[in-house]
Amino acid sequence: MFKTIEWKNNSIVMIDQRLLPTEEIYRTYTDFLDVAEAIREMVVRGAPAIGVAAAMGVALGALQINAKGRKEFLKKFEKICKVMAGTRPTAVNLFWAIERMKRVAKNNPKLPVEALQQRLVQEAKIIYTEDIKINKQMGKFGSKLIKNKATILTHCNAGALATAGYGTALGVIRAAVEDGKKIKVFADETRPFLQGSRLTAWELMKDGIDTTLITDNMAGYMMKKGLIDVVVVGADRIAANGDTANKIGTYSVAVLAKEHKIPFYIAAPISTIDLKIKNGEKIPIEERDIREVTHIKDTPIAPAGIKVRNPAFDVTPNRLVTAIITERGIAKKSYEKSLKRLVKEDNARG
Ligand code: MRU
Repeated sequence: MFKTIEWKNNSIVMIDQRLLPTEEIYRTYTDFLDVAEAIREMVVRGAPAIGVAAAMGVALGALQINAKGRKEFLKKFEKICKVMAGTRPTAVNLFWAIERMKRVAKNNPKLPVEALQQRLVQEAKIIYTEDIKINKQMGKFGSKLIKNKATILTHCNAGALATAGYGTALGVIRAAVEDGKKIKVFADETRPFLQGSRLTAWELMKDGIDTTLITDNMAGYMMKKGLIDVVVVGADRIAANGDTANKIGTYSVAVLAKEHKIPFYIAAPISTIDLKIKNGEKIPIEERDIREVTHIKDTPIAPAGIKVRNPAFDVTPNRLVTAIITERGIAKKSYEKSLKRLVKEDNARG
């Protein structure tokens, strides 16, 4: 089995997701600046995986700090956190993980620098381990919503590659399969970065899960033909009212699901819920390099000079979301109340 990300001998090892499915190359990072670049360039991607990479990157940066005392250490540490926070704007897990690392530094005022460095490494490892546990728990809740013999449509990659392991949306699918249900998956290819065809298809095939790849514009046809029973996707940021940012194209899938009366579920950890943001309007949407649209690898597929837009995410309004599956349970409308309650419960249990 592959590993998306791993802390190994004071370095970070990540599978280069840009090269999948044709090449399975692992890269080793010993400098936090390179980790920041890897997040930006999408060597690692997917909200929870970005969070884990950011935490590990911050820990790596902390180890690189040469400081005489705590004050100097914290000043340099703050700069490292800032660099990491500047990598990608939409997935809130990135900022959640960095804040958690900052809290460790703040809440251990008595630790000498060297011990604090080790404590930060430990925290990054905890975030990693917790993520896998969270996904499995989410899977258990989510599986209850999936009927035997269901065909599930998913968009982008919310799998083991997008997390420390197991996945969120694909975690729900994996859990349903583990529960003995006969499940079929339709995977949207997910233009322009092709996370669906390159990553979701790859990891589900590895697990022997019955998967059919379609291009994004085929989803409506499949729904109309009665071939899709349920949609399950991940999320990059969920606002307090349940509006959800996820990979570009998710909104179209949600609209189609509504038209065809197909349940549309989001699977995401509590760390993806951003109660500070009231609604989807306020979620920052990353715009990426237009080359992702105009080229496939180095081959142009559009005339040079054409005007291009490349928003990497869109926001699905809460009214199109049937339920939100988290590791603390399932949130239903009204999301203001149910999400707040789940977050509160999560904070209380620590
Ligand atoms: O641009 P990406 O590949 O980082 O976007 C990933 C997604 O949109 C995923 O659906 C989301 O992060 C959930 S991953 C469990």
